[in-house]
Amino acid sequence: MNTYRLALIGFGNVGRALVQAIHEHSSTYKKNFGLKLIVTAVSDALKGTVYHAEGLHLPSLLESTNSLKGIAGSHKFTDALEVAKQGDYDILCEMSFTDLATGEPATSYIRAALERGKHAVTTNKGPVALHYHELQTLAKKHHAVFGVEGSVMSGTPTMRLGEELLSGALIQKIEGILNGTTNYILSQMETGMSYTDALAEAQSKGYAEADPTGDVEGFDAAGKVAILANVLMNVPLKVSDVEREGISKLTFNDIESAKSAGERWKLIGRLERNGSSVKASVKPQRIPLAHPLAGVMGATNAITYTTDFLGATTVIGAGAGRKETAYALLQDILAIHRQSQCTIAGVK
Ligand code: HSE
Repeated sequence: MNTYRLALIGFGNVGRALVQAIHEHSSTYKKNFGLKLIVTAVSDALKGTVYHAEGLHLPSLLESTNSLKGIAGSHKFTDALEVAKQGDYDILCEMSFTDLATGEPATSYIRAALERGKHAVTTNKGPVALHYHELQTLAKKHHAVFGVEGSVMSGTPTMRLGEELLSGALIQKIEGILNGTTNYILSQMETGMSYTDALAEAQSKGYAEADPTGDVEGFDAAGKVAILANVLMNVPLKVSDVEREGISKLTFNDIESAKSAGERWKLIGRLERNGSSVKASVKPQRIPLAHPLAGVMGATNAITYTTDFLGATTVIGAGAGRKETAYALLQDILAIHRQSQCTIAGVK
């Protein structure tokens, strides 16, 4: 049995879902994988910080509302950076807010963990889109893992699929519906709903970012395209290198004329190798209904990897969601566990 001590940075919807999942499934994880998870620290910019080297009481964390003050444990750390630098943990689970312009403060938390030889797993697009190579190099130097499964399509297995299972098949092209909000809006507009109403609905269902400009103008998808380029195609592409156009200019007429031609508008994120360079874009495209991405409706996301060996491999699934994103962290944690077991067995 391996025990991992987790430090949770960010205790919003995803952090809570992760605690819930650990609480609910700990006996299954112990039985199936020989893995025990304890939470030694939780730090949230709004709710405060609590720490217990032996493990915090999970039901109390789940019952807490706006503050972690009442949770039994030490309150000696004032913020997440202190936890990352001084706390007792094996894996930092980084779930703080996304900033696609700087990657901060998440990048500093992750850097602090990796510099100590602690593993770091994140659901945050900022550090991965902007600093992936630096953080991965740091992780390797300190024999730690930097897990990024949750940065694209939440827990739907896309990153590890590309990194581990498809890398040998030689990825030439990646195309995807990488933003749920815009796909939801386009799907609703096809049924006659106005753009404004569809956006309001996407906001009320919690798909959209706090500022939905990031979704509708393609910035969120461009961040994900940059992540895919850096992690899976090994090119240091910046978010600003992605040619970007959103969906805000699409009209009812555009939607209707595509429909009558047996086509459908989708906001497609695309990466294509061209010799030694990679062309990256996010733009609305009219695709035939027979295209593998055409049937992906509502807030669902999808990604198609085109490789030399397999042709097109498409994964369709959740692109966001509390439980779905928490599962991305569990996947990364399980990968760390499997890797450590291989190391113990001497199979490197
Ligand atoms: N706002 C994003 C979306 C959430 O609509 O897909 C996931 O990154």
